[in-house]
Amino acid sequence: MKISERHDVTDIERVGVVGCGQMGAGIAEVCARAGLSVMVAETTGEALELGRTRLTNSLGKAAERGKITPEERDTTLDRLSFTTDLGEFADRDLVIEAVVENEQVKTEIFQVLDQVVTRPDAILASNTSSIPLVKLAVATSRPDQVIGIHFFNPAPVQKLVELIPALTTSDETCRRAEAVVTEILGKHAIRAQDRSGFVVNALLIPYLLSAIRMFESGTASREDIDNGMELGCAHPMGPLKLADLIGLDTVASVADSMYHEYKEALYAAPPLLQRMVDAGRLGRKTGSGFYPYA
Ligand SMILES: NC(=O)c1ccc[n+]([C@@H]2O[C@H](COP(=O)([O-])OP(=O)(O)OC[C@H]3O[C@@H](n4cnc5c(N)ncnc54)[C@H](O)[C@@H]3O)[C@@H](O)[C@H]2O)c1
Repeated sequence: MKISERHDVTDIERVGVVGCGQMGAGIAEVCARAGLSVMVAETTGEALELGRTRLTNSLGKAAERGKITPEERDTTLDRLSFTTDLGEFADRDLVIEAVVENEQVKTEIFQVLDQVVTRPDAILASNTSSIPLVKLAVATSRPDQVIGIHFFNPAPVQKLVELIPALTTSDETCRRAEAVVTEILGKHAIRAQDRSGFVVNALLIPYLLSAIRMFESGTASREDIDNGMELGCAHPMGPLKLADLIGLDTVASVADSMYHEYKEALYAAPPLLQRMVDAGRLGRKTGSGFYPYA
């Protein structure tokens, strides 16, 4: 469907993505592949170059595997632009923030977005896994236009998106966000209340933390824990491999937010997880986590 034919569904054509790590790059790719014009922001020129390489490599692999044609790869790349200046987001219809899982960093970004984005009914969304959306909403002068749009990793592959309205989010913002996610991006949307972890992480994080506790206590080796769940329960990836894929800093931050919210022991990050984060062993993205990576 061409963008011009979609006006009955939504008038969103220009998207901004803040952060070009694993999730930001994936979200930018999904939006650009769907025909939207996407501007990506990072903190430094170096981080921006890393993000650009991540995106170019991912699109290159998609073309090599025949998921897109070489022409689609090139037109998708043409729809992407990069900046280190959030001021350039002035004309965006929708902004999706995907920076580190840190409430203060995200709050400051929402304050800046509120000042620079000129369209009065622009949607300001966060890809947060666990930070209360209402906190980001009230940091702006338009709390009715802030919503959680939570993608899964890797965003170009995973079909699911969680939509999380804050207490302040309007029905109109929800309706428009859902239209973008389902009709333009082609994802399956589920709705959840603004409670830490929403649906998927509320179930997944306690499971991952249990696997880390099991490994820490010496009950079984990392391989046996992962094989147990892959071969015994037909999971595509065991819990320690999955924690490495998500990023151990993100797993720890999400667990901390959930523990802060519910005060239940099952959400408490085990000491080994914290030590690995302190050591900079964050999983695949740093080349070392529960497993080494090339
Ligand atoms: N990793 C996952 O599996 C996963 C899945 C769903 C949602 N999330 C959420 O997505 C968000 C990002 O996670 P990630 O895995 O992509 O992390 P990541 O560490 O791969 O990337 C974070 C990026 O944010 C950038 N950044 C930090 N501060 C910034 C700022 N002020 N302006 C612009 N960029 C900034 C960093 O340079 C980095 O590139 C988090 O909120 C996380 O909870 C992660």
